[in-house]
Amino acid sequence: MTEPDGGVSRRGLLMKLGILLNGAAGLVLAVPIVGYLLSPMLRQKSAANDPWLSLGPLTQFPEGETRLATFRHPNVNPSDGETANIPCWVRHVAGEKFQVFAINCAHLGCPVRWFPQSGLFMCPCHGGVYYSDGARASGPPERGLFEYAYKVDQGNLTIQVGDLPTPGATAASLINIETRKTSPCA
Ligand code: FES
Repeated sequence: MTEPDGGVSRRGLLMKLGILLNGAAGLVLAVPIVGYLLSPMLRQKSAANDPWLSLGPLTQFPEGETRLATFRHPNVNPSDGETANIPCWVRHVAGEKFQVFAINCAHLGCPVRWFPQSGLFMCPCHGGVYYSDGARASGPPERGLFEYAYKVDQGNLTIQVGDLPTPGATAASLINIETRKTSPCA
């Protein structure tokens, strides 16, 4: 109803206010939904933007051997200190062909150790065992060790780490790892 002097009635005003509030509520609900729908695209984009981190010159990794290396995780806070220095196992297969394994067991994440005498990675927590190529040998892990994408850059071995692998979720760094390996020998 219009006021006699041409103004807006109370009902009209409430109607407009209701539409405005409904629009605002819809917007608030839409933001997380749109974020959820776009998250795979955003994840791929961030994986593509992951920096390549150097593990050191190739001379540190003799052919045919598996050595421990360390990298500084790119997503760190100043307070992280030493905990942001992440170890990994580097297997130099031959030439420029490598395998870089996450140190965490694929079962519940304990750090695995390399035993050159037996040529096996072993996990101290529940007896998980892996072959030298990272494949599962025995024990509770349901899969082999997680691997980082790598490339040789100006005589340095570099890796892309993304999110750290976890037993419950495939890390971003491991998504499409086969397509992201850029070594000519990979
Ligand atoms: S954490 Fe390695 S076997 Fe369980």
